[in-house]
Amino acid sequence: MKSGFLWGAATSAHQVEGDNVKNNWWEWEMKQSVAMRSGRAALHYELFKEDFALAKQIGHNAHRFSIEWSRIEPERGKWDKRALAHYREVLEELHRLNLVPFVTLHHFTDPRWFTEKDGWLSANAPEAFAEYVKVVVENLGDLVDNWVTLNEPVLLGTMSYWQGRWPPQKKGVFKFDRAIQHLAAAHKRAYRIIHRLQPDAQVGIAKHMISYKPVSDVWSHVLTRGAIDWWFNHRFFKLTWPKHDYIGVNYYFQRKIGVKMVPPFFYQEDDGDRKSDIGWKIAPEGLFNVLKGVKKYGLPVYVTENGIADEKDVLRADFIRDHLRAVERAQKEGVDVRGYFHWSLLDNFEWDLGYGPRFGLVEVDYKTMERKLRPSAYVYKAIIDQSKRN
Ligand code: FCB
Repeated sequence: MKSGFLWGAATSAHQVEGDNVKNNWWEWEMKQSVAMRSGRAALHYELFKEDFALAKQIGHNAHRFSIEWSRIEPERGKWDKRALAHYREVLEELHRLNLVPFVTLHHFTDPRWFTEKDGWLSANAPEAFAEYVKVVVENLGDLVDNWVTLNEPVLLGTMSYWQGRWPPQKKGVFKFDRAIQHLAAAHKRAYRIIHRLQPDAQVGIAKHMISYKPVSDVWSHVLTRGAIDWWFNHRFFKLTWPKHDYIGVNYYFQRKIGVKMVPPFFYQEDDGDRKSDIGWKIAPEGLFNVLKGVKKYGLPVYVTENGIADEKDVLRADFIRDHLRAVERAQKEGVDVRGYFHWSLLDNFEWDLGYGPRFGLVEVDYKTMERKLRPSAYVYKAIIDQSKRN
C-alpha cells in the first residue's frame, strides 16, 4: 500500500458502548427476549482507553467509531454537555495515540423522540439531523477531519422500512423510498453544515456495496445485474451528488443475479466458497469489483467496513489477507484506495442477531468484560508492519 495508508478497525456506538437507553433500538430490544438486548454491550463507553490501546497494539494508525445521537440530544433541542465531553475525551485519546479518527454521525440508531416524531418518514427528519450535526461539529470539529454522515443509508431503509425487520418496523415500498429521500436530504444538509464550519473537512458516507455478477453472460442477465447494481449501490450517490469528498465502502457480499419469468423477474444467489459462522459466503474478489465500480467517481476511497463472524478465528486471517490483496489489485487498476477499516475492533452486539456473531479482532468475554487479541489480529498487525516497511 502507498505510504500514508490508513489501517484501522471500526465500531459503532450502540454495538459496543452499552446502556444506550435513549435510542429506538433500546426501546425495541425491551420488547424482545433477553438474549436480544444490547444491555452493557462491550462496555466500551467506559473502557475505550483500554480498547484504543489494543488497536494501537495491532499497529493501527486510524480508527472509525460513531457518536450516539441519543446521548448528545436525549430530548429534542436539549444538548447533553457531559456526552459531548465524553466524546471529546474519546477523540483526545485517539489523537494521543496517533490514531486518525473517522467519525460516523449516524450508525442506524435514532433518539426515541425522533422515532416518535415519525423518524425518517418525517419531512422534518433532515432538519432535525442537521441541528444535531451542527452541535457536534461546533463542539468537536477541532478534533475531527474525517466525517461519515450516515452509515449504510440504503440498508437502513431496507431493513427498517422495506422489510420491516428492524425498528421502527414500518413496512412498505413507498415508506422505504420516503426514508431514502429524507436520508439523502439529511446527508446533503450535513455536508453543507460541516463544510461551512470546517472548510477542509473530508465528508462522505459509508455505503453498503454488494458485488453483483450475472449468472451468465446472456444479455438479459447482464442488463438486470446492471440495473440492480445501479439501484442498490449507486442510486444514493446520484441522489446526493456532488456532496461527497470521498467514497466509503462497506463490503460483505457478492451475489449472482439472474432473470426469471415471474415477479420480481430476477433472482439472486450468494457467491463465494467458505462461509462465516452466520452463513455469509466469502468472496474477496467482490471487494475488488465494488472498488472498481466506484472508480468512476474520481474520489479517494476508503474501505470503511469489511469483516467476518468467526468465533473460532479459523477464517479471519485469510479473510483479511485476501481482502487486502483485492484492495491492492484495485489500487493497481487506478482506484485511489487510501484506507481499510476492519469490522470490527471488538466483538459486539450484531443488531437483530444479538451477541452470537463474533466479528472482533479482539475477543470480549461479556461476563468479565475481559479483552483478548485473537490470533488473526497479529496477522493483521504483521501485514501492517510489512507494508509500513516497504
Ligand atoms: C454492517 C453494519 C455494521 C455491522 C456489520 C456486520 O452492515 O454497518 O454495524 O453490523 O454489518
